[in-house]
Parts: sequence; structure tokens; C-alpha cells
Amino acid sequence: MTDRAVGPTTLRVIGIAGSLRAASYNRALLSAARDLAPPELIIEVRELKDLPLFNEDLERDGVPVAVGELRRAVRSADGLLLVTPEYNHGVPGVLKNAVDWLSQPLRQSALEGKPTALMGASTGLAGTARSQAQLRQAFVLTNSPVMQQPEVLVARAHEKFDAMGRLTDQPTHQFVCLFLTRLAQWLAQQKRIGTSPD
Ligand SMILES: Cc1cc2nc3c(=O)[nH]c(=O)nc-3n(C[C@H](O)[C@H](O)[C@H](O)COP(=O)(O)O)c2cc1C
Repeated sequence: MTDRAVGPTTLRVIGIAGSLRAASYNRALLSAARDLAPPELIIEVRELKDLPLFNEDLERDGVPVAVGELRRAVRSADGLLLVTPEYNHGVPGVLKNAVDWLSQPLRQSALEGKPTALMGASTGLAGTARSQAQLRQAFVLTNSPVMQQPEVLVARAHEKFDAMGRLTDQPTHQFVCLFLTRLAQWLAQQKRIGTSPD
């Protein structure tokens, strides 16, 4: 839900943080992005805690409720924003699990052609460069265009947020604002391409 005004030029994005941790820096970064987004960009935050582990048998027995809801939300949105931690130089299982659910069923994948953007925060020095690279690789197969630049790689995240999860680091704050401005421009461009008769 949002209290922002919705109009014909509004761009709706589903925002997902790839951590279940209550004090997650990535959820805090996603919250900051939601609050800092320009007026035409609405970021709707979704949680992953109710998603089961991916299992094709579950799909056959009837799509799990949380999976169906997430797929519908992503399908109807103008874009997807994933905010990823990095575990052992890779994408956390909880986020890869969501990507795998969204990628199925193949011919109706919610990720097909879905404009997608990435951000990430880690306590390490590379600021999720490796996990973001892995996600970009997955989005080749799902045929999801990924915004290339700017890359939001928040390193040493424990120094950039306060105890309440507020983004306190000014350079990061400014960079997230720049990223969101570019994201809105890129999504508008992708939408025009998507609705073009050619
Ligand atoms: C199992 C595990 C592996 C981790 N591996 C990395 C890593 O490869 N690179 C990195 O920068 N940080 C790594 N970290 C530190 C995470 O960046 C840090 O825990 C971060 O706060 C997780 O994101 P969150 O705050 O959104 O939950 C790891 C943490 C855990 C628990």
C-alpha cells in the first residue's frame, strides 16, 4: 500500500530484500529507497518469509499462496528491485529461492521481460559485488533486462545505518537518490519500449 498519488505516469516497482533478519541492512536499504524515491516511482515492499523452498512438486499440487501472491505482484508491476546481501561470495539462498519461484512456470514466468534493478549491502568491503553479479547472470536466462548503472554496492553497512535501521551515511544517501532518479528514467523508457507498436 502507498499514500503517494497514483497517476498515468506512475511507475510501480516490487521491492524485495533478500534477508529474513529483523535488523537486516538490506531491508533498511530497501526502506530508505522506498522513502527517497521520486514522486513518480512507487516501491511496494514484499517479504520473503512465507515462501516455501522451491519444489516443483508443490507447483503440481497447487501453487503455494505466498508464491501466487508474489508472482501476481511482480507480473502487474512495472519493475522489480532486488536488494541483496552476500553470503559466501554469492546470492543468499532465500533470494535465489524467490527468483526460482518467479521464473516458473517457464512460459508464464513473472520475470519474462521484467525490468529489474539491483542494490545490495554487506558488512564486507566489496558491498555485494559478487552476489549482484550472480543475479545478473540468472537474469540472462529469465530474459529480464537489468539496469546496468549506477551500481549500489553498500560496503561496511554496519557503519552506514543507525540502530533504528536509518541510512545515516550522507554519500550513500545521495547515491541512492541518484540511483532512484535513474531507475525512474530507465523504467519509463522500458515501459515505452514495451508498449511501442513496433
Ligand atoms: C553465512 C554468511 C556469509 C557471509 N558472507 C559474506 C560475503 O561473502 N561477503 C560479504 O561482504 N559479507 C558476507 N557476510 C556478511 C553479511 O554481509 C552481513 O551478515 C550482512 O549484514 C547480511 O545482510 P543483512 O544485514 O541484510 O541480513 C556473510 C554473513 C553470513 C551470515
